Amino acid sequence: MAGNGVFAEILDGEVFKYYADGEWKKSSSGKSVAIINPTTRKTQYKVQACSQEEVNKVMDSAKSAQKLWAKTPLWKRAELLHKAAAILKEHKAPIAESLVKEIAKPAKDAVTEVVRSGDLVSYCAEEGVRILGEGKFLVSDSFPGNERTKYCLTSKIPLGVILAIPPFNYPVNLAVSKIAPALIAGNSIVLKPPTQGAVSALHMVHCFHLAGFPKGLINCVTGKGSEIGDFLTMHPGVNCISFTGGDTGIAISKKAGMIPLQMELGGKDACIVLEDADLDLVAGNIIKGGFSYSGQRCTAVKVVLVMESVADALVEKVKAKVAKLSVGAPENDCDITPVVSESSANFIEGLVKDAKEKGATFCQEYKREGNLIWPLLLDNVKPDMRIAWEEPFGPVLPLIRINSIEEGIHHCNASNFGLQGCVFTKDVNKAIMISDAMETGTVQINSAPARGPDHFPFQGIKDSGIGSQGITNSINMMTKVKTTVINLPSPSYTMG
Ligand code: G3H
Repeated sequence: MAGNGVFAEILDGEVFKYYADGEWKKSSSGKSVAIINPTTRKTQYKVQACSQEEVNKVMDSAKSAQKLWAKTPLWKRAELLHKAAAILKEHKAPIAESLVKEIAKPAKDAVTEVVRSGDLVSYCAEEGVRILGEGKFLVSDSFPGNERTKYCLTSKIPLGVILAIPPFNYPVNLAVSKIAPALIAGNSIVLKPPTQGAVSALHMVHCFHLAGFPKGLINCVTGKGSEIGDFLTMHPGVNCISFTGGDTGIAISKKAGMIPLQMELGGKDACIVLEDADLDLVAGNIIKGGFSYSGQRCTAVKVVLVMESVADALVEKVKAKVAKLSVGAPENDCDITPVVSESSANFIEGLVKDAKEKGATFCQEYKREGNLIWPLLLDNVKPDMRIAWEEPFGPVLPLIRINSIEEGIHHCNASNFGLQGCVFTKDVNKAIMISDAMETGTVQINSAPARGPDHFPFQGIKDSGIGSQGITNSINMMTKVKTTVINLPSPSYTMG
């Protein structure tokens, strides 16, 4: 159970502690933040409401710890990460349990998230050992006017303190996707988990604590965004921000100092379906892509753009599959579970009402109980409807009928977002042409959008983000190139 066994020390009475300088602590603010269970809509957990003063202390200890960590041999950093990965997997059950309780993730998916996170940490350790062990050697005589008098050695050095801010939908996996690359590259971490997801994240952090990382290297502060959010992101002690979430990321990037930013801010992933597509394959992927974790994934299929000639057949196939989705509690491993909060459910309902008023065809009856929204496919959606452009982050999927490939590409590219997209066709030439024309960070051919496997590059363009993630890209992003130039008194040419 959460907060029990090896995790007992992270709990004080009914409030989970925060982690700083290698210790679990109570905030001197004396305040806590409640985490509401999306299913029961009652308080499930409480976490510390850290103060700005505590954030300052955390930044200081993260800075000192990083200086020592950067001097720790790469193989030792990797060894500790492998240890943390094993501990994380060993304790998957209590972590998964908190994912179920605080973000209503279906039980099996919650376990998968923890196991995937352990694998990510291990892969990161291995990749780091390979790519950080390599540098470059340049000589001066390749540039006009130069003799071979300068040898330039390049290597990758850490940035310093990385501020990691993961979202509610993957509070463990999208936290370790920032923590592990940062650590292997010699950085320290200040983690600010989402409030919903904070307890799962604190358990994950404890696995790193149990692995024996040095004091102050990994820190986790919890609290109200209104109190410590801007204070953290604008803190002069932060050397890089890795953020995943909504459009708060746009505000963060405007306020942050002159530091590298890695931002992933959501998407409106389009699924373009051509006449020759295998409609059973498409329907299966629309269900998986549109309704997994109740549509609360940045890479969810968020609009289907289907050629009119096959639209009726596709709608029938999707309807049949929607009817088979189980709806209910995450503990029962239902396919569709309550969305994360009441305000999120209200937002989704607003999009549905707008679509209704403007004449969309409802393939199922709209149904909501508390935060639980039944899966809904909206046919004949038109560009004047909000759902055609906005991200519901819920189990409601719009379908737009198109009459040409150009129309589909135009709709996809008119979006402010550009995370992923997908195209279904048996014609590889058309698939490549469409993929090239889509203004998105990734295009999947004949499969739904997805971030993983976690070593693949993952990036958005436009309002979907800055920079590229995926294990290798994240390690590189969290380093800086350093060069040392050896100047020779006279030209020296190596002989064969
Ligand atoms: O919600 C955003 C995640 O990066 C999506 O990850 O494709 O593995 O569900 P996923």
